[in-house]
Amino acid sequence: MTNLKEDIRSDVREHYAKRASSTSPCCSGNKFYQPDTLLNLPADISDFSLGCGDPITRAELISGETVLDLGSGGGLDCFLAAKQVGESGHVIGVDMTPEMLERAQSSAKKLGLTNVEFRKGYLEELPVEDDSVDVVISNCVINLSPDKPKLFAEVFRTLKPGGRISVSDIVAKGQIPERLRNDKDSWSACVSGALSMDDYLSGLQDAGFEDIQITTKDPGAKPVSEISDDSLFSAWISARKPQEI
Ligand SMILES: C[S@@+](CC[C@H](N)C(=O)[O-])C[C@H]1O[C@@H](n2cnc3c(N)ncnc32)[C@H](O)[C@@H]1O
Repeated sequence: MTNLKEDIRSDVREHYAKRASSTSPCCSGNKFYQPDTLLNLPADISDFSLGCGDPITRAELISGETVLDLGSGGGLDCFLAAKQVGESGHVIGVDMTPEMLERAQSSAKKLGLTNVEFRKGYLEELPVEDDSVDVVISNCVINLSPDKPKLFAEVFRTLKPGGRISVSDIVAKGQIPERLRNDKDSWSACVSGALSMDDYLSGLQDAGFEDIQITTKDPGAKPVSEISDDSLFSAWISARKPQEI
């Protein structure tokens, strides 16, 4: 990693360390879930989301699957995934921010979940074995990575052949203006690091993925063709690692 990339990660970590200790319902995330999805979760867990969509419902998880959540934050998506994959399944959340990991671990204990674990690590160097994961999910995190080609290569490495991704993320319809791209504060706010649709597509293709789809996050939302070229939007991205390589 170059110094610039390290600096970005360290600014992002500092930003999210502060968010982890927030006790107020924070964020934008929980409005994206169907209310019944969040039933039976204590408010301090269901309200703590920093996401921009619902990667879980679209992932169509199956009992017994192994799920990896990139940038698991307070753990909400991991807890929802854990319920869906059941005791025979397994969920791994990876995050680089110790304060987020502590919060997620304490919530998992409170919920009595035994099929979820949280690992400290970078998305560009995932602490996960090769070919071991059925589904990679992520909620508003990939835009924060300073090295997307490395991240996509790592996701590809950890997925089993035929494994899939279901990701919510901020995407730029066109290119982000140069002045915004270099603005550190806007990076942590999920703006400066957003990939354009074309770069997302080619990044995933270069890593080896197939069946790539980038759409607006809900089926009822405005289609991508109606979004203006200079806008950012909340997208749902899916793709598959080929069965045979
Ligand atoms: C916007 S928050 C989203 C958290 C969670 N997915 C959610 O929906 O609430 C981004 C999270 O990703 C983590 N993160 C950002 N960049 C990372 C990187 N390069 N490696 C590991 N974790 C990262 C941050 O620490 C933070 O917890």
